[in-house]
Formats: sequence, structure tokens, C-alpha cells
Amino acid sequence: MRKSLVAFILITIVVLGLAVQHVWILLSLLITDYSQYAISRADLPAPKSNAINDRPQLIPKIIHQTYVNDSIPAHWKGPQKSCIDLHPDYEYKLWTDKKAREFIAAEYPWFLENFDGYPYPIQRADSIRYFVLHHFGGIYIDLDDGCNRSLDPLLAYPAWLRLTTPTGISNDAMGAIPRHPFFLKTIDSLPKYNRRWILPYITVMGTTGPLYLSIIWRHYMNGNPGRDDTVRILFPDEYNNHSWSFFTHHLGNSWHSSDVKLIFWMGQHWLLLTFLGFAIGFSLLFCIYSFCVRRRQADTKGRFSYSRIPFYRRISQKDIELDDRHEV
Ligand SMILES: *[C@@H]1O[C@H](CO)[C@@H](O)[C@H](O)[C@H]1NC(C)=O
Repeated sequence: MRKSLVAFILITIVVLGLAVQHVWILLSLLITDYSQYAISRADLPAPKSNAINDRPQLIPKIIHQTYVNDSIPAHWKGPQKSCIDLHPDYEYKLWTDKKAREFIAAEYPWFLENFDGYPYPIQRADSIRYFVLHHFGGIYIDLDDGCNRSLDPLLAYPAWLRLTTPTGISNDAMGAIPRHPFFLKTIDSLPKYNRRWILPYITVMGTTGPLYLSIIWRHYMNGNPGRDDTVRILFPDEYNNHSWSFFTHHLGNSWHSSDVKLIFWMGQHWLLLTFLGFAIGFSLLFCIYSFCVRRRQADTKGRFSYSRIPFYRRISQKDIELDDRHEV
């Protein structure tokens, strides 16, 4: 085999290896079997069952929500009220922008500069929920989610997150005891992931949003945490598809913009896109390879001529014509 071909193959392997290593956690998220961490529906007492009282209540009875200020829009007042009304014995905390900033400044001053520096307000709304869960513990619920039954049965798990359909962890409802090591890792890793990507949606998803949380969760679970430190997963049916589910979903994600459609399309066609990516990558490498080989051949055979450069001949002919005229 020719040396250059060997080099080409080696470079390709290295490039592919680096690419795969870079997105390894992302790839592993696609094949993660979440069911092994599921909060089983059989383990959850029915909404009015006495069995609820027999369960340990590890998570403190606090409901956290976030909004810009105290003036909750009308379409979210219903869901908000449903959660407050079903939990008279819970403390309710609404984290407005002002309160959130004061809280970070007082309790996590090392993060304040990062917090203030986020280009998108939703990044602050995302990150504050991890900090309040780490500090107080409790249950965080998005304002567009209403409550369908008491959340008491979910207090029995030291930490839980929610799976969305078709796959992937969401950050719209989460529960934890104070100082849970998973939320410690989540807040600890925020500065490291604070980067800007091309699309705002990817920036938000990857720096503070659901994708960020999924990646941190995968890293955390790869460390095989013990039984009390594990993070359990609430499945969509337990979340909001049935009369015995915990939440009801209401429309109105306030921050989705035009790049969302593109991302959803990409999500639905990720296999095709991955294939295309590899195909384009390979073609590019091959073009570079064949260009190098041809140039080397031309050089060694001494046949390389400037006339091969596009436009060169035309320019030189014009020069000759001008010269001719001068001579006349
Ligand atoms: C609260 O925030 C909303 C949305 O930004 C704004 O329209 C409203 O005027 C604010 N209300 C107060 C009292 O500041």
C-alpha cells in the first residue's frame, strides 16, 4: 500500500476517534436504558391510597417555581393554583428574577458573575432551579405544569428527574433532598459548560437546559452512585398521561424561538444527519487526500505547469496581445 494511503486511513481513524470521543456521552444518552432507574408505577401508591402515609418522606415539603416577577400570566394561574391547592402543608416559593439574583449573591457568590453573564434570561431561570434544589431541597415545577394529585409519594426518593417523550431528561419537574450529590455536581459543572453555540437554542440546551442536565446525569450515573445517592427517573405515564399521573401539562413554553423547529427536525432525523455528516467528512478528507497525491505526482514527474492554474493562460495571452500592439 502506498504511504500516502496509509497516512490517509490513519488520519481518518484519528479524526473519527476524536469526534466519537467528543460526543460519546451524547451517543450513550441515545442508547441509555432509563427503565433501570425508573420509579416503577407499581411502587407508587394510588392517589387516595393509605399506603402513601407508610412511606418515608425524605424530600422536604417545598414547591419551587420561577417567573420574571410576581405577576403570573393568566394562562399559568390555573396550573399554579392547582399545585398550591393540592399541597396546603407545603411551603411555596416563587423565584422571581430579583429574588433569584439575591439568593445566588447570598448563598453561591462564586456563581454570581456567571449568573449575571448569561446572554439568555432562560439560562438564569434554568440554573436557579438547580441551586434552590441543592440548597433547600424540595420539588421544582415549571409554571406550565399543573398538579393532578398530591406529590407526597415522590418525597420517598432522595432525587428524581423526569423523562420526556420520546427520550431525554427534562428539567421541568425535579425533586431532591438538600445537598444531594447529583445537584452538587449539576451546579458545580455550570461554569465549565458555559459556552456559546451557533444557535441560541443549542446554547440554552447545552449550558443550563435539559441537554446539560442529561449530560451531567449520565456522567454522574457512570460513577455508579450508591443506593441513596442514585437519581431515579419518572416516566411519561407517571408524569402526565393518565388519571393517576402527577401532573397536567398546559401550553405556553415562553422562550421557544425559530431555531426550535430546526432542532426538532434534526432530532427526528438524527440518523440521516449522522450518516450525512460522516459521508461529507469522508468526502472532504478524500478530496484533500487526492489533491495532495495529484500534486505530489505532478511535482515528481516535473510536469507541473502554471498553465494549469485557472485564468493564468488567459491573463498571459492578454499580456502578449498588449505587447504585440506596442510593437506595431
Ligand atoms: C412582570 O413581567 C412581565 C413580563 O416581562 C411584564 O409584562 C410585567 O409588566 C411585569 N410586571 C411588573 C409588576 O413588573
